[in-house]
This record gives sequence, C-alpha cells and structure tokens, in this order.
Amino acid sequence: MLRTALLLAARSDRCRAFVEHSPLTRRVVTRFVAGATLEEVLPVARRLTADRLVTLDYLGEDVTDAGRAADTVDAYVRLLAELGLHGLAGRAEVSVKLSALGLALPADGARIALDNARRICAAAEAVGTTVTLDMEDHTTTDATLDVLHRLREDFPATGAVLQAYLRRTEADCRDLAVPGSRVRLCKGAYDEPASVAYRDRGEVDRSYVRCLRILMAGPGYPMVATHDPRMIRIAAHLAEEAGRAADSYEYQMLYGVRADAQAELAARGLRMRVYVPYGGQWYGYFMRRLAERPANVAFLARSLVGV
Ligand code: FDA
Repeated sequence: MLRTALLLAARSDRCRAFVEHSPLTRRVVTRFVAGATLEEVLPVARRLTADRLVTLDYLGEDVTDAGRAADTVDAYVRLLAELGLHGLAGRAEVSVKLSALGLALPADGARIALDNARRICAAAEAVGTTVTLDMEDHTTTDATLDVLHRLREDFPATGAVLQAYLRRTEADCRDLAVPGSRVRLCKGAYDEPASVAYRDRGEVDRSYVRCLRILMAGPGYPMVATHDPRMIRIAAHLAEEAGRAADSYEYQMLYGVRADAQAELAARGLRMRVYVPYGGQWYGYFMRRLAERPANVAFLARSLVGV
C-alpha cells in the first residue's frame, strides 16, 4: 500500500515540487545520491574503487524533448572522458536509462534513444569501459531489449538489467544467456500490475532464483544486483554449482544501501560493484528507494519535521 503510494508519488509533479523544495530532504537524499555534479561524484568513485567496482548513473528519466536528451548524452560523454583521465575507467562503468535519452519522445523516440546510446557506448569504448542499460517500467521492456540487441552489434559488451518480478523475465534470461552477454538481475522497483508481474515477495524471490540459475549456468556474465542476504547466498551456491571462477560474475548493490555487506564481499575477494547515482534530477530515483523500505520513509519524515 505504502509502496504503491510512494511509486505513484514518484510520477507526480506536485509531490516532486514539495519534496524537492524541502531543504531538509537533502540530508536524506545524500544517503542515496553521491553528489549533484561530476566534480562531487568523482572523489566518491575514487574512494569506492579502492576495494570495489562502480557503475555511475547520471540521474534523469522521462525526458520530453530531444534537447534534454542530448544534454544527458553530453553529461555521460564528459563523465566517461573524466573517468579515462583520472585512470578510473578500469574499475568504473556507466548505467543509462533510455527514457533519459529520448525513448518516450512521440516522434521517433526509439531511434533517437538508440542513436544517443550509441554515442555513449562509443565514448565508453574509447576509454576502455562499458555501458549497462537500466530497465524501467514494463511498457519499455521490449523497446529496451531491442535497443540492447542493436547496440550489441557494434558494442558487444553492452549490458542490460532484467527484473525478476516480471513474468516474462525467465524467458528473457534464456534469450540473453549467450556468450559475451552481461545481465544485471534485480528484483524490480516499479509498481507493476499482476497481469505482467509477480506481486508477492515470495514469488518474486522464487523467480529471482530461477533466473539466476539460468544466468549462472549459461556462458554470459551474470551481475547479481540485490541486497538480500538470502539471494546472495543462493547466488554463491549456484556459481559454485556451475563451476564459475570468482571473476566470471559479480555482486552489485546501490550506493547508500548495506555498505557493510559491500565491504565484506569485496574483502572476500569477490567482485562487488556499487551503483552510484549523481546529478540534480534525483526525485524519481529517490522515491523508488523510499518505496523499497518503509524504514526509509520514517527516516525522511523525521528529517522533514527536523527531529
Ligand atoms: P529486498 O527489497 O528484499 O531487500 C533486501 C534487504 O536489502 C532489505 O531488507 C534491506 O535491508 C536492504 N534494502 C533494500 N533496499 C533498500 C533501500 N532502498 N534502503 C535501505 N535498505 C534497503 N530496479 C529496476 O526496476 N530497474 C533497474 O534498472 C534497477 N537497477 C538496479 C541496479 C542495482 C545495482 C541494484 C542493486 C538494484 C537495482 N534496481 C533496479 C532496484 C531493484 O529492483 C530493487 O528494487 C532493490 O534492489 C531492492 O531489492 P533487493 O533485491 O535488495 O531485495
């Protein structure tokens, strides 16, 4: 109920104005968002890459004009050049939302998003790193996978997120369990109808395990994106069962979530990547983080009333 309300609020301009303009929200936002600018996020990336890998996300989604989509591309190109300059590209990649690149534009959105994504992939390739496509709500899954397939023709290391809560995802895992493929498996963060998604947590978890089994047994590179200790234990077991070397898959968590567990996995010599968002357009991302955990809402409420 609360989750649904928060995810609805994530799409409301009124709520956005209220939350964004409260100076006190800022204190909570900084737990999940690493900085407002490139200059702020680079030291965070440098610190984290001492023992972990990172994927950087320039925040933004649902752009409604081609100019803003082009600005997003420029921001990624600048980011990638800086990663190269600072010697971070070996341990840092980028994550991209196609709706920030114009996917939802009424005229030719898919082509615009593909062209924009190509520019980012080329900039990533130039400094020796990769791009992973985030996955948004289910109405965009086919278009995102279509863009992925086309990008992989020229940039075969491009990865994508699959969401275990979608009923279709087991089949998508089978399609993507191919050599060179990089799949980031998460549970899923949007409010989806029962017609397309499992809504029961147990069902989502069971789907996550089925998907993970397919990816671990396949020839691709699975990226286990979860904070759930049980899923992490099962992933380790499945990796062992599949005879995988420690560098043939990785764990991933979000910036600001279970940092102790991140450090512990890295200290065990496992590949651990942190998803690090930055930029001014944090509202949608932040609301999804609140929706994931009721305790985060209490934390925000306390900060809004100043206690
Ligand atoms: P679960 O929700 O069961 O949480 C397990 C435990 O983790 C909780 O008990 C709590 O301790 C901790 N935890 C989880 N979320 C927390 C939070 N917000 N704050 C504090 N503690 C929290 N989704 C999507 O739809 N599209 C995408 O592209 C991505 N991309 C992505 C990348 C990466 C690297 C990660 C880790 C996650 C995503 N997600 C995502 C989000 C994902 O779908 C999911 O909503 C969250 O990861 C929470 O699910 P868990 O698997 O962590 O399990």
